[in-house]
Amino acid sequence: MLEIQGVRVVYPNGYQALASVDMAARNGEIVALIGRSGAGKSTLLRTINGLQRVTEGRILLDGKDISAMVGNDLQDLRRSVGFVWQEFNLVDRLPVLDNVLCGRLGYNRGVASLFRYFSSADREIAVRSLERVNLVHRATNRADRLSGGEKQRVAIARALAQQPRVLLADEPVASLDVELSWHVMSDLVRVARDEGVPTILSIHQVDLATAFADRIVGIAQGRVVFDGTPETLTEDALDRIYRFDVPAELRAMRRRETAPREAVAV
Ligand SMILES: Nc1ncnc2c1ncn2[C@@H]1O[C@H](COP(=O)(O)OP(=O)(O)O)[C@@H](O)[C@H]1O
Ligand SMILES: [Mg+2]
Repeated sequence: MLEIQGVRVVYPNGYQALASVDMAARNGEIVALIGRSGAGKSTLLRTINGLQRVTEGRILLDGKDISAMVGNDLQDLRRSVGFVWQEFNLVDRLPVLDNVLCGRLGYNRGVASLFRYFSSADREIAVRSLERVNLVHRATNRADRLSGGEKQRVAIARALAQQPRVLLADEPVASLDVELSWHVMSDLVRVARDEGVPTILSIHQVDLATAFADRIVGIAQGRVVFDGTPETLTEDALDRIYRFDVPAELRAMRRRETAPREAVAV
């Protein structure tokens, strides 16, 4: 169980990206984060794997606060949070299997990690992870030889090889065309359910979010403005999530343009 309680994030330049976010994801639950660009989705995901510090609030994983971890604890946390990025983040010139083995790096400290020495147990975990996304036949191919959809499935396998306690994905299908998006999303959601860990994915397309997620969390300007099942995501709720807040000066300009002539003359 992952619980986010009153999380506020203020960046060093003073910009408040998250106001006070409360949400939770149960084991095996798929939660889709939706919202306009700049709403705070990536910031929220980064607080969960410790890449971004919270300014206030806490994040509990199975009851333990992970938001203030440092040193080895923080390293262990990063190892146990599987993260899938929009841009795949594979090492292009390495074979697919080695890319998946990178998911095991967090488990190998010191010299073993430096020389990327992996035990046969690690290799077995990596092969099993590739099997789960149906890509074992690609194990020896260089990563840059794969299609976009295959690359993202390798990234999913790498996250699985971490044997994660939480799965996060930041716009995992935003770089793929519509058809591939559906395939990759169904792979991602299937393995996440098998894994039985809390899964949070930010996603651009509302139709994909409602098709695959158990719950939708809508974020607008750093606040949760909707939290419910896909069936309860009404037009009204979508309006709240995606409403564009026109800056005051633009609104004033528009009023002047559309106002009756006499009013302008004043
Ligand atoms: N390092 C940073 N410093 C200052 N502002 C940032 C930083 N990173 C993101 N922001 C701002 O925080 C807001 C939320 O960003 P982000 O979490 O990336 O939104 P989303 O993923 O929903 O598009 C945006 O207005 C963005 O410009
Ligand atoms: Mg983002």
